[in-house]
Amino acid sequence: MSDTTSQPTPRGFLTLADIPVADWPAVWDRTRALETDRLATTFAGKTIALVFEKPSTRTRVSFEVAAYELGGNSVVLSTDGSQLARGEPVADTARVLASYCHAIMVRTFGQERVAAFARASSVPVINGLSDQHHPCQVATDLYTVREHFGRIDNLRYAWIGDGNNMAQSWLEAAGMFGLDLLLACPEGYAPDPDHVRSARAAQQASGRGSIVLTTDPREAAAGAHVLSTDVWVSMGQTDEAQRRIDFQGYCIDPALLACAAPDAIVLHCLPAHRGEEISGDVLDGPRSLAWKQAENRLHVAKAILEYVMRPTVVR
Ligand code: CP
Ligand code: NVA
Repeated sequence: MSDTTSQPTPRGFLTLADIPVADWPAVWDRTRALETDRLATTFAGKTIALVFEKPSTRTRVSFEVAAYELGGNSVVLSTDGSQLARGEPVADTARVLASYCHAIMVRTFGQERVAAFARASSVPVINGLSDQHHPCQVATDLYTVREHFGRIDNLRYAWIGDGNNMAQSWLEAAGMFGLDLLLACPEGYAPDPDHVRSARAAQQASGRGSIVLTTDPREAAAGAHVLSTDVWVSMGQTDEAQRRIDFQGYCIDPALLACAAPDAIVLHCLPAHRGEEISGDVLDGPRSLAWKQAENRLHVAKAILEYVMRPTVVR
């Protein structure tokens, strides 16, 4: 494992597109099987390193439990408790971790830092959230939609709030799977135009789906089957006070939910701020799948881990 020169580039999961569209149904079918029967031996004798440069509850615990229930082990490394905090280069850290472990999950800041981990690693690297993407979460959200509606297509998706890492992974999903996605973000908080462009280009190539950007939450919510939101202030953002002013009105509350399809579901990756991006009655109400969505992180983490380790298991 320590000889990086003779090995092919390891299979990793840095964004959703690292798993081809054609493989996703099998990944979600495998997720379903792992939800039904939680114990497996597909990671037996193996260890995943979980590197956190930002806080986490769901990502950390779901991957730790996933590794254990697949017969393996996990080691958590946080910035404070490692040499990363003292400036050890990412590439050096990745190279060493890859010589002990069989997979690495990284939660960090710029996507380039995740990519640097992957370049230096001889084992697969999974993106556990960067400033630009949160692929494990949106993979889970799509699984949750698929379980609920029996499909992910022919549905109308609305994103209400910040054009952040979650919104950008939703954009990538819309491009890959040809989804109809409307995003309502305040002026100045739209997703990176490059992400919008490439998602639209993917849709154009496949001839499926649409992407609409608006500043009006009601326009995005109108007739939507899936309403998603996220915190107004993501980890690492410092303009908290200004954001709380600029995001007024971008709350999924009963009035906004009333604009959606009668059978609409509400998703939130959590953690949530009740009374800001989502009202407490919606988050804890009957249309919310946030709690099942959070549980599903575990099942999807296992399927992704299996896929990057040995994709034939899930195919
Ligand atoms: N949704 C999510 O990634 O949660 P954590 O930040 O708790 O991992
Ligand atoms: N956008 C949020 C997601 C948290 C899971 C953040 O990056 O903090």
